[in-house]
Amino acid sequence: MRTIIEKIDRAQLNSEESTNIIKKAGEILKKGGLVAFPTETVYGLGADGLNENAAKKIYAAKGRPSDNPLIIHITDMAALGRIAKKIPEAAVRIAGKYWPGPLTMIFEKTDAVPYGTTGGLDTVAVRMPEDDIAAAVIRAGGGYIAAPSANTSGRPSPTKARHVKEDLEGRIDMIVDGGPTEIGVESTILDMTADPPMILRPGAVTREMLEELAGPVCVDKAVIAPESKERPKAPGMKYRHYAPRAELCIIEGEMEAVADAVNRMAEEKFACGYKIGIIGTDETLGKYKKGIVKSIGTREDEAVIANRLYGILREFDEENVDYIFSEAFPTGGIGSAVMNRLLKAAGHHVIYI
Ligand code: TXA
Ligand code: MG
Repeated sequence: MRTIIEKIDRAQLNSEESTNIIKKAGEILKKGGLVAFPTETVYGLGADGLNENAAKKIYAAKGRPSDNPLIIHITDMAALGRIAKKIPEAAVRIAGKYWPGPLTMIFEKTDAVPYGTTGGLDTVAVRMPEDDIAAAVIRAGGGYIAAPSANTSGRPSPTKARHVKEDLEGRIDMIVDGGPTEIGVESTILDMTADPPMILRPGAVTREMLEELAGPVCVDKAVIAPESKERPKAPGMKYRHYAPRAELCIIEGEMEAVADAVNRMAEEKFACGYKIGIIGTDETLGKYKKGIVKSIGTREDEAVIANRLYGILREFDEENVDYIFSEAFPTGGIGSAVMNRLLKAAGHHVIYI
């Protein structure tokens, strides 16, 4: 299959050229095809979420296990009522503040939602993204677009159209290129069928932000204590995920000690002929001696780190490194989402210094 790739200038979203691109994306989606598009978190791979056959194509294109449910993307609250039932009052309050935005909520599903979209579950995950291009594509495609991250299953999520092309060109109908995504890690997932509501995946909307509106909010044990035998409640969180091809190890501790340990381990691997990548920060960059050293941003700003994370992991893949050593990063705000993804990418391989 030939993949159509079209670039959209988000400053000119109402131009004739942009309108035609969105129209074409909508036609493909309505016919049951696959279109990748940017959201403010990561690129999504869209299909009509109410059409079981269309949703099935997503699993085939990504190589995704069929028990891993999809998020349905909408653009207005009226659409929520068609796909979800028993919507608690707290969800309406949360939606009032964080929709559109980087938040997904889980509800009981209605009969309108096929089991092929929910991986056989009686619940449905719903998100209303803020990105204007995403909203336009969703509307053009009929208003209920199932979209996982637009990567091959197991690889880091795409934050640029180029990443989608690397993974999925020839397997999907169209890529709408809207430039790099703003946030860089996937949405927070909040299960509203649990009482109190439970975070199944951390993201830009934090527990504190949600508790302000909804009272106590729990976090899935599998997120907090990932090494436990706890089975994650979001089926997708059980897979080794977000992973680069190289072996990734996180080194956590006081800054100088971490740099010393990384230098020692890098030297050992280097002496055996391996290619090394190091993920440092602006504050520590000068301390590393061997290998390809990249700064993920400043330790003062978790949002910048979130934005760079997946891109850096992919860059190291392109450079064919064998081992990546990474510092641990601050966990305030979106930092907990960053460390959640980094730990998964490392298969929980952490050395505490
Ligand atoms: O930011 C995002 O959420 C991006 C953009 C494209 O919207 N999408 C995304 O989708 O990250 P995906 O499929 O890569 O991750 C969705 C996660 C998976 O771990 C899946 O298991 C979980 O959400 N999930 C979906 N529906 C669920 C449900 N009904 N119950 C529990 N977990 C669910
Ligand atoms: Mg994903």
